[in-house]
Amino acid sequence: MKIFLIGFMGCGKSTLGRKLAVKMAYDLIDLDHKVEEKTGSTIASYFAEHGEETFRKLERDTLQSFPYPKNSVIATGGGTPCFFDNMDWMNANGLTVYIDMPAQALAKRLEKGAAKRPLLQGLNEEALVNFIEEKLAERRKYYENARLKISGINLTPDVLRAAILALH
Ligand code: S3P
Repeated sequence: MKIFLIGFMGCGKSTLGRKLAVKMAYDLIDLDHKVEEKTGSTIASYFAEHGEETFRKLERDTLQSFPYPKNSVIATGGGTPCFFDNMDWMNANGLTVYIDMPAQALAKRLEKGAAKRPLLQGLNEEALVNFIEEKLAERRKYYENARLKISGINLTPDVLRAAILALH
């Protein structure tokens, strides 16, 4: 089975994904890392050089053409489900899981990681919360199309795994 973890930046997709993959003895594919491997640069510098539109196309191509192992956990980027037909594609090709987290909690978690995230660069604390609230309002309609929705607050890999297995 392919498990696509989706949700806003900072909700825990990569960290939970890594632990979930270990628990299930699945491979972990981190989409941001695959994009970085393709470009040979970081997402932040690729964004700065080529702009968001080019990045989104590359992200879609990577998502939709990667040779995923049969059993894999895929940690997607926060914007992946919100562009092109990516959400429909993920729903057609695997199990989508939305890790839901309120804006305030995301802001707290993102304060430190903002530098490597091009969309958050240059935002002070207040601007960060405002940005997250607005973006989340925009993106929620895509995230809500996930087959499974689970709160990311205190979410453990065991709870996540049980919720996924309960669907089968
Ligand atoms: C983005 C999220 C990032 C990365 C890029 C754009 C977004 O991934 O793909 O910076 O649009 O929300 P993470 O969610 O892993 O930070």
